[in-house]
Parts: sequence; C-alpha cells; structure tokens
Amino acid sequence: MNINRFYAEQFRNLYEIEIDPCDGVNMIFGENGQGKTNVIEGIWMFTGFKSFRTKKNNELIPHEKDFYNIYLDFFAENRDQNFQIKSTRDLQEVYKNKVKAVSTRSMIGDFFAVVFSPFHLNLIKGGPDERRRFLDIAISQTDPAYARNLSEYYKILRQKNAVLKNVEEKNIDRDYLDVWDESLSKVGASIIKKRESYIEKLKFSATECYAGISGKKEELSIGYILSGFEGENSEEDCAAILLELLKNSREIDIKRKFTSKGPHRDDIEIRLNSKNIRNFGSQGQQRSAALSLKLAEAYIINEMKLEKPVALLDDVMSELDVSRQNYILNELKDWQVFITCCEPTQVIRMKSGKSFEIKDGQLLRG
Ligand SMILES: Nc1ncnc2c1ncn2[C@@H]1O[C@H](COP(=O)(O)OP(=O)(O)O)[C@@H](O)[C@H]1O
Ligand SMILES: [Mg+2]
Repeated sequence: MNINRFYAEQFRNLYEIEIDPCDGVNMIFGENGQGKTNVIEGIWMFTGFKSFRTKKNNELIPHEKDFYNIYLDFFAENRDQNFQIKSTRDLQEVYKNKVKAVSTRSMIGDFFAVVFSPFHLNLIKGGPDERRRFLDIAISQTDPAYARNLSEYYKILRQKNAVLKNVEEKNIDRDYLDVWDESLSKVGASIIKKRESYIEKLKFSATECYAGISGKKEELSIGYILSGFEGENSEEDCAAILLELLKNSREIDIKRKFTSKGPHRDDIEIRLNSKNIRNFGSQGQQRSAALSLKLAEAYIINEMKLEKPVALLDDVMSELDVSRQNYILNELKDWQVFITCCEPTQVIRMKSGKSFEIKDGQLLRG
C-alpha cells in the first residue's frame, strides 16, 4: 500500500496543499499549530471517513468556508486508485475512481493505514471505551462483517435500553425483553469471538514490539477482560452464557435503566512487568506501550491483507529517546511512513526519504 499523492483543496487550515510522498519515510515538519497533524488526519480520513481526533465532521471544514474536499491517489491490490471525500456541513460524499459511492461502508478497507498520535495515549490512560474503540476500528479494517455486526449490536442495544427506561413506569411485561436479549446474545457472541482472536494476535506482536522498544528490559502483557466469561467457549456457548448473564442482571438493569453486561462493557488489560500500566507506568512507558499496540495493529493488517498499511506517526519522535526512535525507524524501514515532528534536526538524521516543511497550512519545501 503506497500513497502517491495527497491533495487537500480545503481541510481545516490546509487551504491548498499537495503532497507527493516517497515510498519510504516522509518527514513532515514545522512549528506548532501549522497543520502537520491536519495532514495526517486528512490522510487517515480515507480509512473509514472519520477523523481520529474528533467525532464532528464539521470541525474539519475550514473556518468561514462551507465544505472540505480532499483527494488521495494510492496504489493497492496491484492497481492505482483514487479516492475523494467532499463534505458540506450536512452531507459527506465519497468518490472512488471518480464515481460517486452509494455508501461509504462499501469502501472501508480499500485504503488502510495505522495512525499513532498523542491522542492515542488514551489507549492506556483512558477508560475501557477507548480500548474498545481501538479494537473495533482495528478489527473492522480487515473484517467488514465485524463492522456490520457491531452496528447491528449497538442498534439492538439502543432499542433495548429504550425499553428498559420504561419498564417500571409503564409497567411493561418483563418477558418482552427476551427478544432483545436473544438478539443481543447472538450478535454479541460473534463480536466477542472476533475480539478474542484479534487479541491473541495483538498479544503476540505487541509484546514483541515492546521488548524491542525497551531493549528487552521490560515485559508487556495483554489480555481481554470479558465481563462474566471464563475459559474457552465456542460461539454458541458464548451466546448461551451471554443470554444467561443478561437474564440474571435483568432486574438490576431495569433499576439502572441500562444493559450492564455484554461486549459493550469489555476491556483490554494492559500490564507492564505484571503491574497495571495505567496506574503504575511512567509517561514514557505508557507512550511506548500505546505505540506497541499501534505497531502490532500494523503487523496484523500486513499479515491479513498481505500488504503493508501506511504508517502515520504523529509527534512520536519528540516523545522518545534516540534508541527508541531508531528502533521504530528500523522496524518500519520497508513501509511507507509519515512522521510529523517539530525539529528539523530529526530530519537531518534521516538517511533517506523525503521531507516536507509546513507553515500556516502550506508547503514550504518538498
Ligand atoms: N476548521 C478549521 N479551520 C481553519 N483552521 C483550523 C481548523 N481546525 C484547526 N485549524 C487550525 O489548524 C492548526 C492546527 O493544526 P495542527 O495540524 O493540529 O498543527 P500541528 O502542526 O501542530 O500538528 C491551528 O492553527 C488551528 O487553528
Ligand atoms: Mg500536531
């Protein structure tokens, strides 16, 4: 997977910018607030048509304008492809090879990348929802059926929660909840099984990666925390267990007015030298762990798609010492990488590759 051109006609403060990257390391540098992350974000948009730092599509439209328009030329699956995203405040339109797509969902997975930015420290520091989001996005990139199951699951969950809110007030028959619980447990079990198998792979790669980054001085371990499940189960068993859990917590859920069991409550456990990294890890250790998860994600995509995702690394260099920086650059030496940084000294250290200086949303040197 290689990007040949990224072009933004209007996107945040990028009023007009064209980037023609090389197939190796592309260093995007400049002072704070100039638009480096905006470039990374603009490229990332083509993976799933959403930003990694905001849920509000409108924030991406330049101030005082009423639309954004970005293009990506890339080479994947042995052919040149071209995507365009055009969006007003009300409508996002996506074009694939100049033809308007009926839905964005059909295009998810055609262009794939992994992104790491300071925002992703939330993977370690944030709550379980951040880690679930990571899992869900990561799995969806290689498994569109998972993305469909997930939105189905949340749709059923919303409907069931709406009923839960009214059970007591409107005196609704409790058996009425059976239908929702049965659908939830079926779809939920398929989500759980896919997350389990993804975490198995993640465990392996992330642990290895952390060992490399830390020079084997520290050991990272990862596990999947399932509310109420123990041991190995088939998908059918899993659905039966989930159904049981849902029924057993029904009375409490009616009181609390939400569904307290199920994959929407799962978490990933991340430990360093067997201690919870969220509470005991230093800033640098947490950073390295988040980065290891992201690199592991990249390796898994590579393995499953037989093609390397584009690596988007926002502000990682400034956070790491030189040996850790070199480890990463060495690991990714056959990948197309975009790295943002503030200091041109980091650009000078680069043996090969291309650099782009950004000032006020514009390209100074290519
Ligand atoms: N919708 C927008 N319209 C215009 N400018 C924006 C918009 N959103 C963000 N910006 C500007 O983009 C700049 C931040 O860009 P960013 O890529 O995060 O900087 P950095 O180079 O530090 O990574 C800020 O100057 C901010 O005001
Ligand atoms: Mg930035």
